[in-house]
Amino acid sequence: MYAGFPSGMFPKVCCPKDQGPLVYEGHKKFIREGEVRCVSCGYAYPIREGILNLVSAQPAFDEIAAANMAARDQEAPIYDSTGHTPSRIACELKAMLRELDPIEGKEILDVGCGTGSFALELLPRAGSVMGMDFSTQSLAVFAAKIDREENVGLVSADARRLVLSPESFDAVLSSWVLQDVPDRTSLLENMRFTLRPRGTFVATAYHYSVDLRLRGHPRDGFDASGVFFHRFTADELAEEVRGTFGNSSARPILLPLWRLPQWLRPWDALERVPLIRRFGRTVLVCASKTAGTPEAGLTNSAA
Ligand SMILES: C[S@@+](CC[C@H](N)C(=O)[O-])C[C@H]1O[C@@H](n2cnc3c(N)ncnc32)[C@H](O)[C@@H]1O
Ligand SMILES: [Zn+2]
Repeated sequence: MYAGFPSGMFPKVCCPKDQGPLVYEGHKKFIREGEVRCVSCGYAYPIREGILNLVSAQPAFDEIAAANMAARDQEAPIYDSTGHTPSRIACELKAMLRELDPIEGKEILDVGCGTGSFALELLPRAGSVMGMDFSTQSLAVFAAKIDREENVGLVSADARRLVLSPESFDAVLSSWVLQDVPDRTSLLENMRFTLRPRGTFVATAYHYSVDLRLRGHPRDGFDASGVFFHRFTADELAEEVRGTFGNSSARPILLPLWRLPQWLRPWDALERVPLIRRFGRTVLVCASKTAGTPEAGLTNSAA
């Protein structure tokens, strides 16, 4: 059973209303039931079954985000069993780890962590992992997979709004989230804001692959559950991330062979061939927080 939210992780988040610090007045190291209070406005945020709930106090969502959250809540119990998920995660994780290494001892934020597949893989080696998602049901599935006292904090929040403290993480990762958010500006700015200097940002998002283009698949749309998506080219995503971080690199990964057994998938070699990787299903983008990149433009708004 999930021991609860680690009290040592409260300084990493802040009050969604006025960005004031949150304090816990109890003495437990892990909190399953309790509350934290904003020092500035006094508002109390509940912790239920170990999940810190900030989302209930955030302003009402726009239609696209509300549909996304409702769909993720509903699908949470079966998300991990959808056909492609385990092998997709294995492939993406390998590529992400290459960018994050060494992760030993690092404090990592997983934005849009969903049911925790990535975060759980990082936990044994990382110093701590915070999973943030606006789907409380997905976080509940994540919590059910944690079976001992771990340095993992679960927060329900809309990550487009500022709920993170400055310079609190060594690395931020986000898998398959950017594509579902029509305006990524505040999301990217918040992720940069909470990174420590020289910290690493790594994310993946749907790729507008050459075969999808040739087969006439649209670039934007809504999936069967009503979740909005946008398919990126690698250049497009790199440019967008560069707008916030001042640097970036992006490449397609995840060739559409994921149903083959692992030993039959020559991923690494094939993904290096420029023509072949244009068939990749996902774009991987990385950036680092360098001293010269802009701080201005940080917002607490969500489009
Ligand atoms: C496709 S799922 C990916 C989950 C997980 N990262 C994975 O790769 O399996 C996208 C996740 O992002 C979350 N999400 C989307 N927009 C969000 C936002 N603005 N704030 C917090 N979570 C968000 C959704 O609730 C959902 O769990
Ligand atoms: Zn406050």
